[in-house]
Amino acid sequence: MEPSNISGEKRIIVGVTGASGAVFARRTLQLLEADARVEKIHLVVSGSGLKLLRDELDIGISKSARVPSALAGHATGKTEYLLDSDIGASIASGSYRLHGMLVIPCTTGCLAQIAAGISSTLIERAADVCLKQGHKLILAVRDAPFNRIHLENMLRAQLAGAVIFPIIPAFYDRPKTLDDLVTQFCCRVLEMLDLEQDRQYRWEGEAKRRKK
Ligand SMILES: Cc1cc2nc3c(=O)[nH]c(=O)nc-3n(C[C@H](O)[C@H](O)[C@H](O)COP(=O)(O)O)c2cc1C
Repeated sequence: MEPSNISGEKRIIVGVTGASGAVFARRTLQLLEADARVEKIHLVVSGSGLKLLRDELDIGISKSARVPSALAGHATGKTEYLLDSDIGASIASGSYRLHGMLVIPCTTGCLAQIAAGISSTLIERAADVCLKQGHKLILAVRDAPFNRIHLENMLRAQLAGAVIFPIIPAFYDRPKTLDDLVTQFCCRVLEMLDLEQDRQYRWEGEAKRRKK
């Protein structure tokens, strides 16, 4: 059997933890859902992540199995929702064919667990598996300011193979709405997963900018 990234149909894990920025999780899921190159999305939301979805997006936690459709805004065909406590899920094993994983938003707590190699939840275990198997792991860390422990954990995770992609949006594309800003950030994240994005703004140099 071919790995999913060779066959061109990618299986991707999206972890959502309890850092502010639920809109980034929502847009990422929507972009992945609409992407024909993506065969399957495994969505795992931590307990604090569920609280975040309720606080920032009014997505109720009582029927958590409906989280994917509530997040994506329509019934989803390819997103499998997994409980963070489901440590026996397929994605907890290195034998599972996977393209990569992103945690968006990623708390400093989740970062710390990953950097320390502690796999007590499914998100942490799946991230650990990505690092040991050499799959791409993107951590969209969000907090401000960062303390020394956060910075050291980012370095530790990066040295182990993770991409530290803090939620720091760009402004040189002159976003007109929050939606523009969020979409551009999520496109950048997905390009790091080798999913080229048509909507990605590309800087063409100052000469072109002046002509506009
Ligand atoms: C309103 C609110 C906002 C928070 N924002 C952040 C944040 O931006 N970054 C962060 O690292 N933690 C943040 N936290 C703290 C985490 O939710 C908390 O540390 C939690 O235990 C993380 O658990 P998890 O990593 O399993 O999701 C926030 C908590 C609350 C209540």
